[in-house]
Parts: sequence; structure tokens; C-alpha cells
Amino acid sequence: MVSRVIPVDPFDLVVFGATGDLATRKILPGLYRRFFAGQIPDGARIIGAARSEMDADAFRAQVRAAIDDHVGAAKRDPAQIDAFLANLDYVAVDAMGDEGWAPLKALVHPDRVNAFYFSVAPALFGPLAERLHAHGIATPDSRIVVEKPFGRDLTSARALNATLAEHFEEHQIYRIDHYLGKETVQNLMAVRFANILFEPLWNAQFVDHVQITVAETVGVGGRGSYYDKSGAMRDMVQNHMMQLLCLIAMEPPYHFDPDAVRDEKLKVIRALQPVVASDIVRGQYLGTRSRGTDCDTAQPGYLQDSENPDSRTESYVALKCHVANWRWTGTPFYLRTGKRLRARTSEIAITFKEPPHSIFDEADETWRENVLVIRLQPNEGMNLKMMIKEPGPGGMRLVQVPLDMSFAEALGEEGADIPDAYERLIMDVIRGNQTLFMRGDEVEAAWAWTDPIIAGWEARGDKPQPYDSGSSGPEDALMLMHRDGRRWREIRE
Ligand code: BG6
Repeated sequence: MVSRVIPVDPFDLVVFGATGDLATRKILPGLYRRFFAGQIPDGARIIGAARSEMDADAFRAQVRAAIDDHVGAAKRDPAQIDAFLANLDYVAVDAMGDEGWAPLKALVHPDRVNAFYFSVAPALFGPLAERLHAHGIATPDSRIVVEKPFGRDLTSARALNATLAEHFEEHQIYRIDHYLGKETVQNLMAVRFANILFEPLWNAQFVDHVQITVAETVGVGGRGSYYDKSGAMRDMVQNHMMQLLCLIAMEPPYHFDPDAVRDEKLKVIRALQPVVASDIVRGQYLGTRSRGTDCDTAQPGYLQDSENPDSRTESYVALKCHVANWRWTGTPFYLRTGKRLRARTSEIAITFKEPPHSIFDEADETWRENVLVIRLQPNEGMNLKMMIKEPGPGGMRLVQVPLDMSFAEALGEEGADIPDAYERLIMDVIRGNQTLFMRGDEVEAAWAWTDPIIAGWEARGDKPQPYDSGSSGPEDALMLMHRDGRRWREIRE
């Protein structure tokens, strides 16, 4: 398969928070990988901006270390790394004051595509936007990239949208949800809208239910104080999981065009029904202690990780929701996400209904529903479970088998070399394509649905249920499905 990397014109990208965790782990190594792939031309400038005083060489040394740590050996070519680093610069900037803005202005070419990545605490989004304007750095074509969390409820998200709107038009604002940059997430749209096969079945008449799982093995250690003010609902459901749900449930857009796609996603969010208390389960992971031969090893539980012994924040949430429109009324969507679960796996499973009538006598006991599983990570791919005849004599015996496709195997080298979500999204900013970014009204609608759910458990004083680290989550989450006569899929890699 031929790689189709389309180079872009020289641009200026300013990364605020350039010495921070996200920039070090994702943004800067991702830019290097795009450079290595031949997409970033020489002459493009990547300008780090942060509070610390240092010169460009010290910044380059930091980025070199970030590349060593976060880029695979096959792409760490010394000559390419040197060439990439030559495009980097650094300015110490005070986001709340006036220092550093004049030197920054001197570096940014007003006649090029220029973008400003706010990889900083949300409290700084407004001050940065304001100063980019006040100092005459932003042009009507500049883009700003805003990280999550985008607000912590509807009121704060509205306020943030209003602040950004004072200085930038909506077409200039790129709100990142990195799940939208994942290859398989985009593949949801390809699978649905580039094939005739599924669309006629993609509705409540044929789909029994949909399960969306994002399971992680990591805990919240290291970022416990942030997480404790957020919890799984705000951290994962309001954004990443809602986006997945939208891509599964939306109507076909008239064109693969930023506003056409986002209009359809918005309709899904608006059609979501309020979730009743009995359809939500929250959990909090417990610590583990295992006796080794030399010493005991212990993994802290959530209460230790968050450094808040009284915390009622959930590290796990499962819920059932309904999209009330012609296509989906009658098909429940079950969502679950959590930390410190048995395996790291994200997938969407669409379970179809039984055929209306079975012509096979034996099929009753062995019969299983068709399930389409879209694996987002790891081992990206698709699996369609189908009934076939069990081979050999002995009459018509049926068995369920998977029609399994791993993208890495199906697409060869290119499938194995899937760009990181951030790489793709940053290049989309440079190309000026907002399809994979959230629009302001979408974010607000998502909060409008989430807020009453959170307010409900806060008002009731609900405590999350403890669950064992390495398990599938709290017991009651199983019940959420069992009582509907359904089962969660097993969490495994
Ligand atoms: C982030 C959340 O947005 O997504 C984290 O804040 C979470 O809590 C992460 O771990 C998951 O992303 P990924 O790409 O590892 O699935």
C-alpha cells in the first residue's frame, strides 16, 4: 500500500505549556513523527512557550529527550531529529502578564497559517486568547487549539465559549477530544457510510442494544487532585464516550464536511433522554496487597491516590441511556468506563436482534445473536460474530464464529503504523479542517445532558461502590444489564 502523506505549507505553531506533560508526551513527539513522515516542511516553525526562562537550545534539548522517550526506535533517525529541532524556537511568556509577548510576536509570521495550542490549565485559556489579540499576534485566520476539560458544567463551558468568542470566531477554535483522532473512531464513519451493508440494519428494528466500553488498567495516581474534582463522568463520559455514542447513533451527514458531521452529532446529544438514578452505577477502586517472597507489594486504592480519604468521586461509571428519535427508540445504549480494571480495552459492540423465525430445530440452544464489535484499542479492528454450520456430518448443527479483521493484518505495514490521535489532529488544525473537533454548541449540549446526572447523585449523597482493582467493576454494574436480560461483554485485551 502506498503511503499518502500530503505535505502542508510552512506554518507557525506556538505551543503554550510546551514544557508540560501533554506537550512532552504527545504534542512534540507527535510533531516529530509527522516531520519524519515528510509532512512538515523545513521552514515550518514550532515555537515552545512557557513560563520558565530558557533559551531555544535548552528547549531543543528537552524536546530531544522527549523524542527519545516517546518515539519508537525505528523513527529515531539522528539526522532527522537534528533537522526537526532546527525548526524549533522558544519564548518565555507570562500568560497573566505582559512579558514575552513582544518577542513572541517577532517570531510569528502574520502571513502564514499560524496556530496556538493552549496546552495549559483551563484558567489560562481566556488570558491567552485575550493577550494574543491585545498584542496583535492573532490574525483573522489564526487558529487556537483548546484542550479538555472544556468547563466542568454547562455554566462554566458557556462562560468559556463566551470568553473565547470575544477574541476568535468559531471557525478559528479547535476544541480537542483526542478520541476523535483515533484511527478506529474515524473508521466508525467509514464503516457506516462507505458500505451499504450495515445501514439498513442500523436502527431499533434490528439492533437489540449497543455497549460502549472504555476500560483502563491505570489508576489516577499522579493526577489524583485533578481527577478528584472531575471523576469518570466528567473525565470520560461527557466527552470521549459521548463522541463515540454520537458516531454510532448519528444520521448520515449529507457530506463529510465539518459542520454537516457536527450538526448530526449535535442532534444525537439533544435526543438523549435524562438518565434515571436506577440506570447509573458508580464505583471507586480499592487497593491491592499481594504477598511476595521478598516483600509485600501494595497498590494504592482510589482514596489514597486521590489523597482525599472522604472522596465520593467515581473512578468507574456505567449507565444506560436512550436516544429518543425515530431510529433509536427501543434500543438502549449501555456505557461503562473505569480505571484499574482487568484490561485496557476500548470497544463498541452492536448486538443485533434474533431472526424473526428459526427454521433449524437445533438452533434454539446453540443460537447466538449477531454482534458487530469495533475494537478501538488495542489491536484495532472489527469482528462480526455470525452463525454458520458446524462442519462435518451429524445433521445441521450451528455454531457461532467470528469474522475477524485486524487492521494491522488487513492493511499491512500501513495498518501497523497508525498515527497517534494527536498527530492527526494537529495536522488537521494546520489544514484548517474542523471535522474532528467539537463545536461550542456540541460541548454545551453534552454538559446539559451530564449536569442533571451529576446533580442527581450529589443531591442524593450517593457514595460510589468499591470494586477490586483488576476486576470488571462493581457488582451492581453487572445487574444493570442482567435485569434487562443482557450481559456485558468480558473485559479483556
Ligand atoms: C483522557 C482522560 O482524556 O483520556 C484520562 O483525562 C484517560 O483519564 C485518557 O486516561 C484515556 O485516553 P487513551 O487514549 O489512553 O484511551
